Amino acid sequence: MHPLLHELCRVAINDYKIKGTDLVIEAGTRVIIPIASIHRDPDIYDDPDNFNPERFASEEVQKRHAMSFLAFGEGPRNCIAFRLGLMQAKLGLIMLLRKFSFSPCDLSTKVINVNVESYIASSAEGIMMNVKPL
Ligand code: HEM
Repeated sequence: MHPLLHELCRVAINDYKIKGTDLVIEAGTRVIIPIASIHRDPDIYDDPDNFNPERFASEEVQKRHAMSFLAFGEGPRNCIAFRLGLMQAKLGLIMLLRKFSFSPCDLSTKVINVNVESYIASSAEGIMMNVKPL
């Protein structure tokens, strides 16, 4: 829901005709791939503004186009630490959830507003929650 980078950038090395259209991306054209918009596209993900980890069950992933999830990029220049990044995030969550419970507080917001001054995704107001030791 909140990819670290909102977009990927590429430069076409050859002319490329987009299948099923008359459009040609000419060699040398800079192409911006809008990851954040793809991840919130309701034609790709049902109810995209709701957190639903079940959409990453392997049978659900099989139903989608292979380029539907781009949080770590794709192709020869994708993130070299894809697995490390995922493992670190999961490990961090496990360590926190083993020791603390998290719940919404008066300052929590349902929608996370993007901090437009930051190149990588971050929340404008911070993410406020009640945290209690277990
Ligand atoms: C959850 C954590 C992370 C996320 C979401 C993430 C995401 C990304 C994305 C979207 C790209 C651009 C890929 C593309 O253009 O196709 C990238 C590139 C890269 N990432 Fe990560 N990254 C993460 C963690 C890390 C870590 C921990 C390292 C190093 C230890 C790392 C090293 C790199 C490098 C070196 C590139 C450039 C690869 C290239 O241009 O060939 N990333 N990352």
